[in-house]
Amino acid sequence: MAYTTLIVDIEEHVALIRLNRPDALNALNAELMRELADAVSQANKNDKVRCIVLTGSEKAFAAGADIKEMSEKTFVEVFTEDFFTDDTEEFLRCRKPIIAAVAGYALGGGCELAMMCDFIIAADSAKFGQPEINLGVMAGIGGTQRLTRLVGKSKSMDMHLTGRFMDAAEAEQSGLVSRVVPAKKLMEEVMAAAHKIAEKSVLTTMAIKESVNRSYETTQREGILFERRLFHSLFATEDQNEGMSAFLEKREPQFRDK
Ligand code: CAA
Repeated sequence: MAYTTLIVDIEEHVALIRLNRPDALNALNAELMRELADAVSQANKNDKVRCIVLTGSEKAFAAGADIKEMSEKTFVEVFTEDFFTDDTEEFLRCRKPIIAAVAGYALGGGCELAMMCDFIIAADSAKFGQPEINLGVMAGIGGTQRLTRLVGKSKSMDMHLTGRFMDAAEAEQSGLVSRVVPAKKLMEEVMAAAHKIAEKSVLTTMAIKESVNRSYETTQREGILFERRLFHSLFATEDQNEGMSAFLEKREPQFRDK
């Protein structure tokens, strides 16, 4: 599929997906959402790809759902087409780690898209927000659920009800992002993290992603049982043998995804 709203590059084992609608601050229209779901699905299927990075521009990761496109929709349309469901479900089916590299605005659906990734590394220029209330609507791609789990009820309510923006320092302090780096260094830092992940066994990166995400879906007891069984199952892999042997032999492991 040729993309008009994305630029996709594969650098060694990392797929770099860049949102590319500069005139609309990467607002998420139907075309972009379809292309993004396809690009992530292709990266997931591509054996060469071991980690995915999703980013925008220096000014905006994404300024939210496309308000112009959305403004013309009726309740009957959004409800019957299940607006935003198919493409986000496809995105979430990806089993490989996805890092969001956020500079500038990550608002509304843009903040929600960043939270759908496995972790967020932010530039010091990043601004997060759920300002949908100013449009007479509310978050619709998981914002009330994911932001609340990440930053707690009080701050989530504050963000959704006032529509205020959170800067990078507040986002790091409240647990929304894993780290903040100078804007000029953002892609260098994120790509270094992605290449580091790509060196690991895909079996373990997939198992870790599945297990951490399970913590959002189940009780702690069930989640720990799920983790324990996945941990046990990794003892059936050659990579477990290789990783532990390499440590004992004081050498770097050579994982083979087996
Ligand atoms: N949808 C469509 N177009 C958008 C957009 C959006 N979400 N955000 C920005 N744009 C467009 C602007 O209309 C403008 O286009 P024109 O030049 O053709 O007028 C262009 O991008 C540049 O934007 P601004 O001139 O507004 O840039 P700014 O620097 O003055 O302000 C901003 C930047 C604060 C991000 C401002 O653009 C803004 O508030 N955008 C809307 C943010 C928002 O409300 N997002 C939530 C959307 S609803 C949603 O996401 C629902 C959901 O959960 C599913």
